[in-house]
Amino acid sequence: MKIHGGLAKPGILDFSSNLNPLAPPGFVIELIRGCDYSTYPDYYYTELRATIARFNGVNEDEVVPTNGASEGLYASLMVARLLGLRGCVIVSPNYGDLEFEDYCRLIGFRVTHHVMPHGESSFTLGDVKAGEGEVVLLSNPSNPTGTLHGRDELLEIADAAGLLIVDEAYINLSDDPSMSLMGSGHGKVVVVRSLTKELRLPGLRVGYLYSTNDHLVELVRAILPSWNVNNCADEVVKGVYGKYAEAYSAFLKESRTEIPRLREFLVNGLSELGFRVYASRANFILAEAPIDAERLYGELLNRGIAIRTPRGFIGLGGRHVRIAVRGVEHEERLISEVKGILSRV
Ligand SMILES: Cc1ncc(COP(=O)(O)O)c(C=O)c1O
Repeated sequence: MKIHGGLAKPGILDFSSNLNPLAPPGFVIELIRGCDYSTYPDYYYTELRATIARFNGVNEDEVVPTNGASEGLYASLMVARLLGLRGCVIVSPNYGDLEFEDYCRLIGFRVTHHVMPHGESSFTLGDVKAGEGEVVLLSNPSNPTGTLHGRDELLEIADAAGLLIVDEAYINLSDDPSMSLMGSGHGKVVVVRSLTKELRLPGLRVGYLYSTNDHLVELVRAILPSWNVNNCADEVVKGVYGKYAEAYSAFLKESRTEIPRLREFLVNGLSELGFRVYASRANFILAEAPIDAERLYGELLNRGIAIRTPRGFIGLGGRHVRIAVRGVEHEERLISEVKGILSRV
C-alpha cells in the first residue's frame, strides 16, 4: 500500500511533506535553468560518482547515483534478497512502512516490524534484534518520529544483522549530521541519501547510495536501469557538490540554525493547545493531538492546510500527526486555525 504526504493541491499550505523551509537556494535554480536534455546522460556517471565521492570523502566505487532515495531503498532491499537474506526487519514507525512491507513480502522476505518504544516525550530506537540472515531498514533521523539515532547504536545493529540499510534522507537537516554512517567503512551498512528534502526538489528525483561492499554495489548497478538519473539531476548534483560546494555547505549550515528555531516555535504553539509533542531533532515533529488525527486533518484541509495523519505508519495511534517545520508566518496560521478548531469541539 502506497501512502505519502505532499499530495496537497496547489494553493494548500502544506505541512504534510518535510521539505527544507529555506530551500531552494538561488544557485540550484540557476543550475536547473541551465539543464540540457538534448543528449543522454553519461552511461557510467563517471564524473557524477567522482563528485559525490569527493564531497563525501569516500571512494567513487562506493557510490551509486539513484533516482531519489526511493530507488536506493528499493534497490538495496532487492539486493539484500539476492544476497540470500531471508528476513526483513523494518524499524517502525517509518516512512513507507506498508509500502516496504508489501515490497519485501513480494520479493520473498519474511517481514517483521520492530516498533520503537516511546514514553511521554520521545521515541527511542529500543533493542533491535536482527541476526545474520536479516536486513534491517530504518531512517535516521527517523521519519516520522524525529529521533536521531547514534552512530554506535546503529553500528551495533549492523554487526549483528546481515545488512543495515540506513535512510538518511533528512540527515543534513537534522541537528547533528555527524551521526551519519556515510564513510563508516562498515561492510554491512548501506547508506541511502537524497537531495530531495534539503534542496526542496521532490520532482527532480535525485539521490545516491553508499556501500563499501563491492559485490553489493555491483548488484545494485546491475539491477538499476540504464540512465536511471536524468541529465538535469546529474548536472544539479555535480554543481551543488562541485562549483557551488561552498555555498551549498553554508546553505545547509544556515538551514540547521533556522530549523531548530522554527521547530521550537511550532512545538511551543502546539503544546499550549494541548498537543503532546515528542522530542524531534529533524525538520518535522510528531505530536499527539487532543482530538482524532483524521478529524483534525479534515478540518484543517477545509481551511486550506495539509498535515500528515498516522495512516500508513505502523506503531502510531489515532491521534498522532506529523507536521513539517515551515516559516513562522505559516506556523502562526496553522496554530491559529488549530486553536479555532479545538475551541469548537
Ligand atoms: C525518510 C524518507 N526517505 C525517503 C524518501 C523519499 O525520498 P526521494 O524523494 O528522494 O525518493 C522520503 C520522502 O518522503 C522520506 O521521508
